[in-house]
Amino acid sequence: MTREPVNIGPSDPLVRFDNVRKSFRTARGRRQQALDGFSMSIPRGSIVGLLGPNGSGKTTALKTLLGLVRPDSGTVHAFGHPLPQDQRHVAGRMGALIEGPAFNASLTGEHNLRLIGELHGAGAAEVSEVLELVGIAHAARRAYSGYSLGMKQRLGVAGALISGPELLVLDEPMNGLDPEAVRDMRELLKRLRDERGMTVVVSSHILAEVELVSDWVTIVRNGRVICDAGISELISRGTEHLVVRLHDTVAEQAVAILERNGHILTRTAGPRGTDELRMAAPQSPASSPDVLKLLTSQDVYPRELLVEAVSLEDIYVAAVRAADAAAEDGSLDRR
Ligand SMILES: Nc1ncnc2c1ncn2[C@@H]1O[C@H](COP(=O)(O)OP(=O)(O)OP(=O)(O)O)[C@@H](O)[C@H]1O
Ligand SMILES: [Mg+2]
Repeated sequence: MTREPVNIGPSDPLVRFDNVRKSFRTARGRRQQALDGFSMSIPRGSIVGLLGPNGSGKTTALKTLLGLVRPDSGTVHAFGHPLPQDQRHVAGRMGALIEGPAFNASLTGEHNLRLIGELHGAGAAEVSEVLELVGIAHAARRAYSGYSLGMKQRLGVAGALISGPELLVLDEPMNGLDPEAVRDMRELLKRLRDERGMTVVVSSHILAEVELVSDWVTIVRNGRVICDAGISELISRGTEHLVVRLHDTVAEQAVAILERNGHILTRTAGPRGTDELRMAAPQSPASSPDVLKLLTSQDVYPRELLVEAVSLEDIYVAAVRAADAAAEDGSLDRR
């Protein structure tokens, strides 16, 4: 296939959204702003996790990339091509699974893939290969109507892979998968990145899964990106917590001692009759024993003292709160 010359370098992002806006008219005739100045980049050869609450615009953004939604304003580029004008030049380079797979229920999984493969010039060998890759080769000859939810999802991913894409776009691929299948999916995405140099963008609500699989995280809120960074940078940006786990009978006393010494605490129930006191971890790990000394000098003996790593969930919640606070400030300023 001949392609238009593409003037992006190896370090340029594969995809760029710049200030994209898109509104829909709702059934009641009101305008719903789905994308509201949405800007993001997808670095080449990475797995990008797209996170955000329901209705924040994730699916709309991915549909814009695939030419299923036309932006009202702003620009989208993929492989250096402007979209949607050049959609036909890039269509074969992207594979997608958006809002669940759509297959013919009465045909087998294999037959369904053959039909999609024909559109892309892929034959029986490619069909077998992708069935193997997603782990449903054993069910290839069964009717799609008899597939479990997880098998349907896997076949959907196989359908997205059949054209041998450079960019794989998966909207909530972990939906309905059992824990083992989620792990398989994660391993599959990493293999596609590592062995085939594929770039993957995956939207999800399962923060822990995104954390385990993504190199890059983009958090969307009300149609705009509120956080866009490499996962290791994000994690290192967050604050670790020091957790003091102690018997609930002495928790009250421990709170009083620590607060008197300037610690700001949250108290939650821990496992097996314990309470947990959580505070910002001291900058230096050497300070943790100081907390212990402080408590033991007043006859309060914790069961455990641990440093809790920052999770993507903490970062997500902090980013959403900060965006809400900024929006609130903005609306106050305008009053
Ligand atoms: N075809 C449409 N017609 C009307 N409104 C739409 C349409 N598509 C999306 N929207 C609205 O745009 C907003 C963003 O929707 P979108 O599906 O992109 O969110 P999402 O982040 O994918 O949500 P979810 O996590 O629930 O999948 C929502 O308010 C939604 O109701
Ligand atoms: Mg969605």
